[in-house]
Amino acid sequence: MQQVKTLDEYKALYRLSLDDPERFWASEAECIHWFQRFTQVCDVDMRAASFSWFSQGRLNASYNCVDRHAHRTPDKVAIRWVGNTPGERRDVSYRELSHHVGRFANVLKAHGVRRGDRVCIYMPMIPEAAYAMLACARIGAVHSVVFAGFSPEALRDRVLDADCRVVITADEAPRGAKLVPLKHMVDLAVDACPHVTSVLVARRTGNDVPMRTGRDYFLEEELAKQRPICPAEWLDAEDPFFILYTSGSTGKPKGVLHTLGGYLVQTASSYRRIFDARPDDVHFATADIGWITGHSYVIYGPLANGATIVLFEGVPTWPDPSRLWQVVDETQATVLYTAPTALRALIQAGDQWLQNSSRNSLRLLGTVGEPINPEVWHWYNEKIGQSRLPIIDTWWQTETGGAMITPLPGVTQLVPGSATLPYFGIEPVLVDDDGKKLEGNGVSGNLCLARPWPGQARTIWGDHARYVSTYFERFPGMYFTGDGCRRDEDGNHWITGRVDDVLNVSGHRLGTAEIESALVAHDAVSEAAVVGYPHALKGTGICAWVTVRNDADWTSQMLAGALREAVRVAIGPIASPDRIMLVQQLPKTRSGKIMRRILRKVASGELGDLGDLSTLAEPSVVNDIVKAQRAQQELQP
Ligand code: WT7
Repeated sequence: MQQVKTLDEYKALYRLSLDDPERFWASEAECIHWFQRFTQVCDVDMRAASFSWFSQGRLNASYNCVDRHAHRTPDKVAIRWVGNTPGERRDVSYRELSHHVGRFANVLKAHGVRRGDRVCIYMPMIPEAAYAMLACARIGAVHSVVFAGFSPEALRDRVLDADCRVVITADEAPRGAKLVPLKHMVDLAVDACPHVTSVLVARRTGNDVPMRTGRDYFLEEELAKQRPICPAEWLDAEDPFFILYTSGSTGKPKGVLHTLGGYLVQTASSYRRIFDARPDDVHFATADIGWITGHSYVIYGPLANGATIVLFEGVPTWPDPSRLWQVVDETQATVLYTAPTALRALIQAGDQWLQNSSRNSLRLLGTVGEPINPEVWHWYNEKIGQSRLPIIDTWWQTETGGAMITPLPGVTQLVPGSATLPYFGIEPVLVDDDGKKLEGNGVSGNLCLARPWPGQARTIWGDHARYVSTYFERFPGMYFTGDGCRRDEDGNHWITGRVDDVLNVSGHRLGTAEIESALVAHDAVSEAAVVGYPHALKGTGICAWVTVRNDADWTSQMLAGALREAVRVAIGPIASPDRIMLVQQLPKTRSGKIMRRILRKVASGELGDLGDLSTLAEPSVVNDIVKAQRAQQELQP
């Protein structure tokens, strides 16, 4: 694969990728080792939401990410692990990685896991988490990684939905100053999952945890029984690869399913081109493996290319806000890929935290997850990039598998706040609410992708109808992203935020409906409406408007605390509302639909222009709401 060096080369290859997608993707597929070559590049139909890539092709992601490099560069560091506590570090070479993954795969087999079975991974950022994913990939088991910040209830729902038989976890997870009792949380979840036959527990802290005989096993002991060699299964390109849950506009999270061949080609190709991969790179993406970025650009994309990855267990601000930069120096990271929300927290902490690190190893910076405000972009550029490193602002989604709109470093003219131009083979289209395509530049609308791409999610686990209706029905013939976007006069793309009932809080996707159902489950609450508002650190803050039952005997203080707790229990701390506003009534239309638009405006402090209020059933309700906001009738925990 030839790297693109100039904007003209980008334009030429982009043209070719649209004119002859089969040729383009066949050539990208060469970065993967195929046990058996595919006979057809794609057989796709957007209207039918049916996608097949690389059919007849046989491959294995674990072979591609591990064995190839263990043969060619056995001593190269595959994983540079940095623990939560400063000073904790471990390098794992590709040779060692292949042994760990082989042993782990044999453990899974010994616990009855077969091709196609689902395995849940609920782990801290330790090397064993990467081994677990790659071990599943090796035998064709479908992993479902659940972010270790989710609550036991959320974990239980995901284990049940995918019908996982095996759960892999750790005793405890150190995270900043906290120690998360992971095994205990797994017990709370799995006690309600009768089909789970094995819980494998990595020793992270070594503290005592309850173990149930016949179900729970220490990973170490299971590994010790196995040989380090396990053949990689020849899997089909369209075999299910992994499930990753994400929030949608209804209460139930969606199990986004990716299939093997297309996903691996997408991530291997895009990692190599977008990060301009070099053989001596140390690739530091700060995302947790519980999110798609952790799958695509911590694990699969870089390892498929034989890179050295940094696996960082800690948080950027602990023990102090110099930590992230210390890790950069300590690992000699050449690439840093992080989220705007992390940068905002570091900016707020003050520039004095930059003094005890040089960050000289870096050659490329990137961001993902939410729009980056130009002020933050400039800080990143000046303070971290010394005004000479490119910043790639990559727009994509759990469902897209890899980055879709992004600059190429050294090629694309960078524009602070804009994700700029489409990746090869990707055709972003803006449409108005009636589905009319908005041609040319200087237009805004709903962001759709007009062509299929290999790394596209193939279904929602157990609910194909929801997959079709969420992504392909609103604008027939196209994939609908749920984002709004503006294409400026130069053809650069600016993501303007979600147009559905999904919030992007600190780069994490949360459905308002999920949070509302956690709130109304509380006895005292009669109705709840959750909206986002601009928040200096999180990008979007969570504001919950609630009405309480007349007979509810709670003080507002107590209620606020109890409601936050209810959300933590149902989803996890990331979904806990920043503001809880008690009101007499919610604004509704005459047909009884809550008018969130009004709540959103009021929560955002835009009290001057509330828009058309004529459809309100009871216009006086607005005064109460405005008053609540004005008085900052905000309940503190
Ligand atoms: C949503 C997808 C892609 C991995 C992390 C999030 C928002 C993502 C950007 C960006 C503006 C962005 C969108 C998108 N988003 N990247 N560079 N600029 N917005 O994955 O949880 O599936 O969320 O994140 O709103 O739809 P996700």
